Amino acid sequence: MQLTKEEERILEGEEGWARQKAMEILVAIGDIHHASHLIPIQSAHISGASYKTIGDAFEFIKCLAGARVRVKSTLNPTGVDRRIWQSLNVSEAFVAKQREVVRAYQSLGIDVECTCIPYHVGNRPQKGEHIAWAESSAVLYANSVLGARTNMEGAPSALAAALIGKTPLYGLHLTENREPELRVCVQCALRDADYSALGFVLGELVGNRIPVIELPPASQPTADELKHLSAAIGATGSVGLYHIVGLTPESAVLARPAEKLELEKDALDSVRGASCQGDVIAIGCPHCSATELQRISELLRAESKGRRVQKEFFVFTARAVKEHMQEVVRKIEAYGVTVICDTCFVVSPAFEHYRCVITNSGKMMRYVPLLCGGAAVKLCTTEQCVQQAF
Ligand code: F3S
Repeated sequence: MQLTKEEERILEGEEGWARQKAMEILVAIGDIHHASHLIPIQSAHISGASYKTIGDAFEFIKCLAGARVRVKSTLNPTGVDRRIWQSLNVSEAFVAKQREVVRAYQSLGIDVECTCIPYHVGNRPQKGEHIAWAESSAVLYANSVLGARTNMEGAPSALAAALIGKTPLYGLHLTENREPELRVCVQCALRDADYSALGFVLGELVGNRIPVIELPPASQPTADELKHLSAAIGATGSVGLYHIVGLTPESAVLARPAEKLELEKDALDSVRGASCQGDVIAIGCPHCSATELQRISELLRAESKGRRVQKEFFVFTARAVKEHMQEVVRKIEAYGVTVICDTCFVVSPAFEHYRCVITNSGKMMRYVPLLCGGAAVKLCTTEQCVQQAF
């Protein structure tokens, strides 16, 4: 990979150890992928924030102290809600470690909003902008729905890109690599958690090939439905981009691949998950938008008939969204639901003692059984999630 004189100097350590290490990571990745050079990025989003998943590997981040990120950089959810951790099932030792992790990232100039929906809290790239994001759900949303350009970064490469303000030019940064490789024709109308089911099936079907999805003519998925589609594809597949005919920013100019798959309703129904009763309800994977909070509040009002929820019920969102929606959050919590920030069901150790989780999230379908004590997962629409709480 060709480096500028300034990049050579960084690589030789003339701007300090941290920037040297970051440049070494970018050069190694660029060389592996035969990138021609580094390109500037507009923002970074960094994963590896929960002490539950990163463990003591975060000591490496502390070693970077003194360096600063060069672009707007946001952080994924951690393992605890920093304000209400005492009411959750998390040890003080874990919280102390988690605080160290957050401080280490914050000292580098990273915005510790701690959410997987950075595009709702001030880190929203424009179409065509080059970015370096980790967190598969956010990568798929940024590439597919917003039309930005990022590869599926891991925690080290996103952090390295943030510290340098650049990323190697390869993969999904190049127009020719954003073409669809197969058509997927969906034969049934979709709404709500159907998009989670579709993403779950699609991710497994397409693997690392970019699909162009053809929805039935009247389909108009909302931004939240596309968020759930993105998250579920990222959970079961390894592709970082999809297109939807007539809807996503690049779909109008793309070729239609010859290979075509048809998806019937049966295929989506097959991933509804467990048939258990559910001892907990969890909504907010990815974190809830303001619109989703409003909807949950209305559904609770419609279903409650004066009662509080009969099961534990958690809603996860970004802190900025919670603060913006204080009145709605107050109404939701009045029914006995807990609204949690900075973390989520999957990456916190607070939610590992349940047997069956009811959710509208396809991503939770994949990760809860693996990371939350082996609990079963039942995929339901948002309305059904709320109905089953009473
Ligand atoms: Fe976000 Fe946690 Fe789901 S990071 S996408 S809410 S697993």
